[in-house]
Order: sequence, then structure tokens, then C-alpha cells
Amino acid sequence: MRTFAALALLAQVCQLALAIESAPYDLVNSAETYEERVYPAQKWVTTSHLSISHHEATNDVMFRKLFNYIDGQNDAAMKIDMTAPVTTLVIPGEGPNCENNFTMSFYVPAAHQDNPPTPTNPDVYIEERPELHDWIVNAAQLHDDLVAAGEEGVDFQTYYTVGYDSPFVIIGRNNEVWFMKNDMN
Ligand SMILES: *[C@@H]1O[C@H](CO)[C@@H](O)[C@H](O)[C@H]1NC(C)=O
Repeated sequence: MRTFAALALLAQVCQLALAIESAPYDLVNSAETYEERVYPAQKWVTTSHLSISHHEATNDVMFRKLFNYIDGQNDAAMKIDMTAPVTTLVIPGEGPNCENNFTMSFYVPAAHQDNPPTPTNPDVYIEERPELHDWIVNAAQLHDDLVAAGEEGVDFQTYYTVGYDSPFVIIGRNNEVWFMKNDMN
């Protein structure tokens, strides 16, 4: 028990010490169980993967490719700081054999937004993400909450799963789900 408490404390201290740059957004509306946010148009570094299920292996493959980009696999051989969050767009059943299409992205730090180096891995590209209107989840029933609240124009077909912690953090994981509005931009 004591060891566990000590570990939990250590994990918290490490997270504070490793505070990293986050993608900017404006809070538009705060409901009891969710928030409406606007993310301004920004660049993200992105890679996609088709898979029948959303298992850890899919995440690992994508995370490694993006991590290699920030670790120097780019035309400037430049190291780029890790940012938060890591977003994964899920488009169910989009592949030729009804695979789900997973698209993972890291936010490009503000210092590199104007001129990010080009990825050398052809699977990885710089995504010009337009302004994004979305909601975050605090409860599993975000869908039901949005419907109950009468929110209109929400695209429930695709969604983002969003993580703020490195894959090495096992305590105090901080995750969100985002749905997007159809009628924005
Ligand atoms: C997967 O989705 C991404 C983002 O919409 C898209 O760029 C990519 O072409 C898709 N891949 C396939 C194989 O459909």
C-alpha cells in the first residue's frame, strides 16, 4: 500500500516536472458533463492506420512513427519537443474491407507552426487542421448528454480519442473523447 502511494506521488511529481506545451483552444460553453471548445486552425503531424479493432498494437505502430518524426526523422534532422494532446481520429468501417481508419496526430509546437520540417517517412505528413469545433467527455455517455441537451449538427459517425499522458504513465491517465460539429468552418 505504502509503495503504491509513493509511486502515485512520484508519477504526479514527474508529470508536473515534465509539463509540456498543449494545443491552444477557446472554451465556448461549459455544461455539467462536457465542454464545447474551438481549436483554431493549426498544423499537426499525422499518420493513419487501417485495422479491424482498436488494439494496442495499432496505437504503438502509429505512436512510434510520430515519435520518430519528433526524434529527428525529418528533412532538418531536427529534434522537436513532445506536445499534448495525442489525438486519434476514428472513422469506423472506412477501409476497403470495413476496417476502421485510425489517424493519430501530435500537435506541432508553436515554435514550428510556420515552418515544420517535412517528415522523411512517407507514412507521416503535416496536416493543416482547420478550425475544429468539438466537445470533450467527462462521462462515458457523452453522446446521450449531447442529445439530451438538444445540441444540433453533431457528427456522431466519427470521433477523436484524445490522450494527454505519455504511454508510460499508468496512474492518473487523462483522456477525452471529441465529437465534431458538422456545420462549422
Ligand atoms: C484514413 O483517414 C485519413 C483522415 O481522414 C485519410 O487521410 C486517409 O486517406 C484514410 N485512409 C484510408 C486508407 O482510407
